[in-house]
Parts: sequence; structure tokens; C-alpha cells
Amino acid sequence: MPSRYDEAYAAAMADPLAYWAKAAEGIAWEVAPRTIFAPDLGAYGRWFPDGRLNTCHNAVDRHVAAGRGAQPAILYDSPVTGRRATLTYAQLQQRVAKLAGALAALGVGAGDRVVIYLPMVPEAPVAMLACARLGAIHSVVFGGFAAAELAARIADAEPKVIVSASCGIEPGRVVAYKPLLDAAIALSPHKPRACLILQRPELACELTPGRDQDLLEAEAAAAPHPCVPVAATDPLYILYTSGTTGKPKGIVRDNGGHAVALHHSMGLLYGIGAGDVMFTASDVGWVVGHSYIVYAPLLAGATTVLFEGKPVGTPDAGTFWRVCAEYGVKAMFTAPTAIRAIKRDDPDGKLLAAYDLSKLEALFLAGERCDPPTAEWSAALLRKPVIDHWWQTETGWAITGNFRGLGLFPPRFGSGGKPSPGYVVKALDEAGHPLPPGETGTLAIKLPLPPACLPTLWQAEERFRDAYLAAFPGWYNTSDAGVVDAEGYVSVMSRTDDIINVAGHRLSTGAMEEVLAAHPDVAECAVVGAKDSLKGQVPLGLVVLKSGVSKPEEVLAKELVALVRERIGPVAAFKDARVVARLPKTRSGKILRATIRKIADAESYTVPPTIDDPAILGEIEGVLRQ
Ligand code: COA
Ligand code: AMP
Repeated sequence: MPSRYDEAYAAAMADPLAYWAKAAEGIAWEVAPRTIFAPDLGAYGRWFPDGRLNTCHNAVDRHVAAGRGAQPAILYDSPVTGRRATLTYAQLQQRVAKLAGALAALGVGAGDRVVIYLPMVPEAPVAMLACARLGAIHSVVFGGFAAAELAARIADAEPKVIVSASCGIEPGRVVAYKPLLDAAIALSPHKPRACLILQRPELACELTPGRDQDLLEAEAAAAPHPCVPVAATDPLYILYTSGTTGKPKGIVRDNGGHAVALHHSMGLLYGIGAGDVMFTASDVGWVVGHSYIVYAPLLAGATTVLFEGKPVGTPDAGTFWRVCAEYGVKAMFTAPTAIRAIKRDDPDGKLLAAYDLSKLEALFLAGERCDPPTAEWSAALLRKPVIDHWWQTETGWAITGNFRGLGLFPPRFGSGGKPSPGYVVKALDEAGHPLPPGETGTLAIKLPLPPACLPTLWQAEERFRDAYLAAFPGWYNTSDAGVVDAEGYVSVMSRTDDIINVAGHRLSTGAMEEVLAAHPDVAECAVVGAKDSLKGQVPLGLVVLKSGVSKPEEVLAKELVALVRERIGPVAAFKDARVVARLPKTRSGKILRATIRKIADAESYTVPPTIDDPAILGEIEGVLRQ
């Protein structure tokens, strides 16, 4: 079937208001929006400003009312603990309503913040939806961050309540969450009124008297709370992501635009509707988890798989295929790193033979650039479409992709596909002029951004304007560099800022430099993302020591690795710190990080004309080749 992409994209561009008004019909509104878009509100306009709705009602209650109560909403599968559970839509409604009641009893109401620091257990989506039910704003923090990162998020979001657990499960170790939570609360100037703690059998924890309550007991004792309608423009959640400094950016997601765009994306991109099963192998702490483990599948009345395992080692590289076969998964979504890990452990895909994947229709990849060999390997193995799609925490859904709901156009590995209807994407030159097809520039999205994209940063409107809107007036700067070709395919090549992508996890090298610079022996430092065949990129730190320091390099490297783990967390995967005599700089003192990265990747480079002392490059090469 030929793709209808071109007509659909052109129609959305010709009359965006009609396009999004139609998409809004997929949502049950308390008050249907009469204004689809108000250009004068907010930094670049606001979607559905006079609409009122409740996101939890749309994700849960309306499906129960429509007769889907007995259908599984969440299939929980935890290969390390051996635990599995099914929550039907009716059971999900009961749990969410009661947990909302427990939060309300602690004083949480519309507009209040709740920090959720939970592993991949059913209580994570239940807590998110309970907040949405109350019109409260959740902020989920990924479990692989250290106490200091959690503290920064608590300080910024100022939650009334924190929902957490006694522990998380990583292959080979139980991660005690409670000490991290206690340390984070001690570090944060803002203290929550209460904490609800899920006690897991793998490692129970002491509850802090006067502050902590057992989550399950509080939920059981609570009265169910109804859905509280809120304005479409009210925030549903804040999700912190790495910025160019150590201070993370609080990406704000609204209720109305988010519900409309995510619901719409399920049919458009993923070809998933009510009753279908989707498996997104990510974590609720990332945007992919928010959008395609929790909200979008549930908004569509589909079944979502919540998998508390890894692509390999839990127990083997066949685990994703086992999940797909066992639950009848129709669309699967993961990061290219996960496929590379599977390919490394099972290069011929022998483990696939044990499973019936006849229900699986497509594999979706995002989170980092997908190298063509990884896409080709998975397409050859699965003999199903493999769809790379590009997006960011900021957008909440795909900027580009290939659209199963419109019939796929021919894929081109190495490209993230073509713009989703609603997005105008161009590569711009430094002056902000669109470049001719095929030329590399900064990828930018024409304002206004479509529904679900961030309207602002939490309590940081100026930072929002500076970081995203100031560089190219009339455009949103994605900070990704890439190219749009003559047929409209977009290829994302690299970031234009100091963000690196480690195993699909977004990290700031600037934040790591702040940690290294805080070590008493370090005079100055640079962190760059070096190529890695599994994780895409890994951080590499170069440090110059203060004069007089004579500590052996191995000792210092160990201390630096431990410091980054303690301050940012294990997820930073910072394992390589080297001592150098000097760092290459421009004559004005700017560290030449791009050149260091090229040396680390053994790529050819030209000596920058502004370099202060070219001899330093040879020294760096010498250190990195050791
Ligand atoms: N809680 C606590 N610690 C965590 C954690 C969590 N939720 N998630 C990761 N970590 C820790 C890991 O245990 C590891 O610690 P270690 O240094 O002690 O081994 C460290 O953070 C790095 O973790 P990870 O990036 O997962 O690397 P890994 O080497 O353990 O595993 C892969 C490699 C490829 C299996 C893994 O990176 C992976 O599954 N990648 C796919 C990522 C993904 O789905 N991203 C989605 C974004 S869309
Ligand atoms: P995050 O906000 O964690 O989702 O990370 C967003 C960043 O990941 C983007 O700005 C890109 O740099 C990168 N990214 C995500 N998806 C893709 C993709 N399909 N192709 C290339 N880069 C991607």
C-alpha cells in the first residue's frame, strides 16, 4: 500500500487548527476546547486554553466506563525477582483512586507537586496516575541518579509528598533507595511533608517516624478519590533533564496538549489501538517511559508491558523476545543500545527461535542516533519493519518518524524518518537561515511547537526562552545537528551542546566537569563523549592536577570515578579519568572539547586556527593512546 504520509502532512500544515481539533476529539473533555490554539499566550502560544479535562479519567476511568474493565491495562514482568502481575483497567482504577485518596489525605491537591522516586514496579504508574487524578503535578526521578541529583529535583519542584520504595533491583545487586532518599531530603533546603514508601520483599527499610508511611497501608486505608478536572494548560508533570549546566531543566508538560498528541500518536505512529499490547523497554524515569510505558498506551485503551529487567543478563539476550511472545506484543519500542547489547550476546539471533513473534508488527527505536548496522541487524533478524524515530524529553513525542497509521514510506537507515504532522523541521545555518537540502546545520522546529511539546521550564521562563527560542527567532532550537535531504528525510548526527547520550541516557558533560573540578587535586578538567560500540558514547574525563600534587594516577582516577558516581549516579557510567599536563585551548582560553573528542575517537582532525599551543594535541594523543 503506498504511504499516505505526503497528503496527511500537507493537510496538517495547510490547516493545523482543523488537524488538532480533529485529534482533540479522541479525548473526553469536561469542557471541550473552543479555542484550539491561542498564539498570544505563553512564550509561543498555548494549545486548547479553554478546555478542561482530567488525564487520569482519559487514561483509566473512561475505559472502565466503556466496558474495558476486565482488559489488562498493565502487565508487570520482573525477571530478576520472578514476579509477574496483571492489573486490569478496573483494578488500576481502584488502586489509582485509593492512592489519590491517600495523597489527598496528606494535603496534596491540584497544582501541588509530588516527587516519585520508584523503580519499575506497578506502583510507579499508579502513583503517576494518582497525581494526575488530583490535578497534582508529578516529577518522576530515575533510580540511577545519586542523592545529590534527587536533592536538586526536590529543591526545585518543592513537593508536598515523595513516593518512593525501599529498593530497586539491578542485575546482581539490590539498590537500597531509602538511604538515597534520606540523604537527598537532608541535602535539599525544601523538605516534603510526608513520604509514602513501598516496602519490597527484597530489602525492607526503616520508616522515619513522623514523616514516612507504608505506601500499601496508606493506600488500603484511603477513601477512593474522584478525578479532578483541570485546565488543559495546567501542568501534568515536570520531568527534569540534563541541561548545559549542572542544574537540570524542569521540562513542563501540560494536560490537554499532551493527552491529545499522545493519544493521536498511538494510531498515527505505532499502529496501536484499544486492546493492543505495546512493550516499551525503557524506564518510567525517562520521557520514553512517561509517554509510551504509561500515558499513551493507556490513553488509547491499550495494554502496556512494564518490564523491570534489562535487554541482556536477565537472564539472557532472548528476554525481550520472550516478553513479546508471552504477552502478544504488537509494537515494541527500545533504544538502539539495547539492540546492540542483544546483538553482542547473541550475534546470530539464535535465542529468537524459541519464541513466536507472529503478533509483533514493528520495532521502534529512539533515544540516541541509531547506527545503520544495528537497524539492519534487527530488521534482518525480526523480518519486520524497524522504525527509527527522533525525539526529545522536551517534545514528549516523535519529531520525526515513519507512520504506521499512514502506511510506511520506504525506510532509510541512518535517518529518523520524516517530520510528524504538526512539525516543520529545517536545518539552519548559524544566522538562522534554512539550508538547502542535504546540508548539515542545527535542526530547528518552526514555532509554534505542536501539542504536548514543552510550553516552558518549571519556574524558569527566561531560561526556557534563552535555551530554546533565543538563538533563532521564530524557531525552537533542538540543539541537535543534522540534515534534511531533498525527499524530506531527517538525519540527526550529534548534539550542538555539551549533552552526551550514554546508552540512551541523556547526560551533561558540563555537570560531570563541575564534579571533577570540585576534587581538591584538580586544577582544571574537560569531559567529552567518546565513541563506544555498545553504549554509543561514554564519558571520558581529562584532568590537569594542581601543582605539587603527587598522587598516583590510578588512585586519583578511582577517586574521580567514585565522586561522579556519588554526585551524579551510576547512570553517568563515568569510568575513565586521565591525567594530562595541559588542556588544548584557544587563545581566548576556551577548551577545545570537540578536538579532544576527535582525538579520543581516533578521527582525523584539523588543528584549530585559534589554538594557543598546537603541541598540546600531540600530548593528548599520547595519553589517550596509552
Ligand atoms: N537504579 C540504580 N542503578 C541503575 C539504574 C537504576 N534504575 N539503572 C542503571 N543503573 C546503574 C547500573 O546498575 C550500572 O551500574 P554499575 O556501574 O554499577 O554497573 C550503571 O547504572 C550504568 O547502567 P546502564 O547504562 O544500564 O549500563 P549497564 O552496563 O548496566 O547495561 C545495557 C548495559 C545496554 C544493558 C543498558 O545500558 C541498557 O539496557 N540500555 C538501554 C537503555 C534504555 O532502554 N534507555 C531508554 C532510553 S529511551
Ligand atoms: P532525551 O531527551 O533523553 O530523549 O534525549 C534526546 C536526545 O537524544 C536528542 O536531542 C538527540 O540528540 C538524541 N536522540 C533521540 N532520538 C534520536 C534518534 N532517533 N536519532 C538520533 N538522535 C536521537
